[in-house]
Amino acid sequence: MKIKKVVIIGSGTMGSGIAAHLCNANVPVTLLDLKTEISEKARDRIHNSRPPLLIDKTKIENIKVGNINDDFGVVKEADWVVEAVVERIDIKHNIYEKIFKNRKQGAIVSSNTSSIPIKILSEKLSKDEKKDFCITHFFNPVRYMGLLEIVKNENNDLDKINSLKKFCEIELGKGAIVCNDTPGFLGNRIGVYAMQVAMTEAFKMKLSVEEADAVFGRPMGIPKTGVFGLYDLIGIDLMADVLKSFIKELSKNDPFQIVAKEIPLVKKLVETGYTGRKGKGGFYRMNKENNQKILQAINLDSGEYSSSKKIDLGIETVNLNSLINRKDKYGEYAWVVISKIIKYASSLVPGITNKFNDIDEAMRLGFNWAMGPFEMLKSIGVKNFFDRVDNFKDNKFLEDLSKTKDENFYGERQLYTDIETLGKIKPKAVKVDKNKSADIYRFNDFNIVEFTTKACALDYDSMDALKNATDKPLIIINESMQFSAGVNLSYTMNFAEKGDMRSIEKFIKYFQETCKHLKYSDYPVISAPSGLVLGGGEEVAIQSNFVVSHTNIVMGLVETLVGLVPAGGGCKEVLWRWLQTKEAKKDPDYAPLKVFNIIGYAKTATSPIEAEPLKFLRPEDEKIMNRNSLFEVSRKIIERNIDFKPPQNCTFNLSGKPLKEKMIKILEKLYDEKIIMDHGMEVGKELANVLSGGETTLDKTLTEDDLYKLELDSFMRLIETKKTQERIKYTLKTGKPLVN
Ligand code: NAI
Repeated sequence: MKIKKVVIIGSGTMGSGIAAHLCNANVPVTLLDLKTEISEKARDRIHNSRPPLLIDKTKIENIKVGNINDDFGVVKEADWVVEAVVERIDIKHNIYEKIFKNRKQGAIVSSNTSSIPIKILSEKLSKDEKKDFCITHFFNPVRYMGLLEIVKNENNDLDKINSLKKFCEIELGKGAIVCNDTPGFLGNRIGVYAMQVAMTEAFKMKLSVEEADAVFGRPMGIPKTGVFGLYDLIGIDLMADVLKSFIKELSKNDPFQIVAKEIPLVKKLVETGYTGRKGKGGFYRMNKENNQKILQAINLDSGEYSSSKKIDLGIETVNLNSLINRKDKYGEYAWVVISKIIKYASSLVPGITNKFNDIDEAMRLGFNWAMGPFEMLKSIGVKNFFDRVDNFKDNKFLEDLSKTKDENFYGERQLYTDIETLGKIKPKAVKVDKNKSADIYRFNDFNIVEFTTKACALDYDSMDALKNATDKPLIIINESMQFSAGVNLSYTMNFAEKGDMRSIEKFIKYFQETCKHLKYSDYPVISAPSGLVLGGGEEVAIQSNFVVSHTNIVMGLVETLVGLVPAGGGCKEVLWRWLQTKEAKKDPDYAPLKVFNIIGYAKTATSPIEAEPLKFLRPEDEKIMNRNSLFEVSRKIIERNIDFKPPQNCTFNLSGKPLKEKMIKILEKLYDEKIIMDHGMEVGKELANVLSGGETTLDKTLTEDDLYKLELDSFMRLIETKKTQERIKYTLKTGKPLVN
């Protein structure tokens, strides 16, 4: 069965998100709602969405819109009809009746419901119709969330379910997990339970919301929104509805019932309009004090707000054992929460799935956890877990494991997919080296480097790992969300604050030397980015020989925002790419002026399609919808390049002073228009110095080393200034740029 055309009914949050994503996959799609104006509005919302739901905004017209009365005929042509209307069974039943009257013979019909079982959704369908009906549970925002649960029951045609899975995996790039018809399926059953445990235990143990989020967050490999931050993000009212539905659907003795009980404070928040970020605030809120916006957090006991306090547990990397063994309330809280999650998840095997592995993967893909409950158990250690855990009666999984105490119970990862993923390869590869910022693996005859720092920020050790790994073909790739958010600014700032400029210079030189190595080593180097590819991260990627990019990236050279210029070869490499254009051959200033604009404004691309016109990516760089495939595609590049020859050195003929003056004129205009301030002018002048070639003339040929030197000198002059340091400190504190 081939899916060539799709119709979506209901153009709200989910319908529009699914339509946008089908458009990303170049699949013709029509969006129908009660009125055409509603679907048209949905299309506008897609166009203006942030982060963007479309990979290429120019394709928006490929999403056709209409209404269910005049345009229902399109259903006849569709191979797949997705229902994404409000969560009301009467409305859904009416729609199915209409769809099945009109659908093409054999076309798949699915619902995006988050809580209604197939059994009920399909109760009015004939036996034959039931074969082709399933649930496709996408997560919001559809483009960015990896998980898609395909829910089936005993009536389904399994071949059809499998071909739908393949389509969603390959064309839409989703981590498609097939699961049974049980309440909340896999992701929400465990994810919402985990949130409820984290919340109720915080109340019980009298932790503040900041304390709970500091533990049930990065230290546990969970996104930093934690539990209360996530509640605010999802919507406290929506969470209340979700809980009601679980209470109704689950049996009375399911442990979920205990943690799903209504909490008076939460009820009060919803009633008073504190529904989270979309409302007046929630557990956190922004408030004005003395004309300044400040973040406040609620006191779980009194319900009063006060300034939010940053909790620093001093934890850099995820280490569950050291977390649960802390001799303070945080250690105790972590243990109680983690052990309950493990107990609950394992009690559901084989009831909700006989593959516990799928539960972990659903948590990775749907909730962005770094590991699921069973991986947590593995990470704590089977013996350690059983030494501490209290009773686990009626939990067959734990009873069996307590007998075997098999530390290797886990087996392989990511069983839901046939793709050869990085996650599957890592356990089979040999870890040949590691330092505090990166791991080096050897697999067959090539190396893999995975950055391991927070947001994969780069420092001397990251560079050291890359440089050491160029003795074989190399793939730079990672499982965590970001390829790299750039150079570690606090690492650099630590030196600057001590006045240790020599160490900064040493680091930048080493960064440059490493990138040169990546580009010119005897073996191919492949970067496989996804997520953030910023600053130094982008410099690593563009100086690799090949790039295999996920379609969800944010890519750019953003150094000017923190008062610096790219100094790891970023200016040089982008400039060289622009110098190869037809226009640059006619006008020697064309390329430098273009790059001045791109780097000066710190332009970023939110997809490979946007990155190409900026020349951050080249047409030949691969663009991949399924993040799981990045490794496999990279590996094939190595296999195709046994006779790899490093590229030729590049040279530069730049105009020097007259070009720099042109650039300074641009800066003066921006300064007069108050678009930039004093320091913006200084940073701009340094960028102008690099891109114009410094003290040079057009007839003089500069080497890459000359350009690296110009980048380094400008970087060093800027990092020494008070205003650049102020920018860096501000960004480290707030995550935002300072205009000074
Ligand atoms: P929504 O309220 O944003 O959109 C629902 C849309 O359905 C509206 O545009 C409405 O005009 C339209 N509609 C209502 N009756 C209709 C009819 N008879 N014919 C055609 N269109 C009709 O809802 P949302 O959030 O997009 O949810 C849709 C489905 O997806 C629900 O079943 C929900 O449980 C599920 N879901 C929602 C998630 C979320 O995060 N919002 C996540 C996963 C699933």
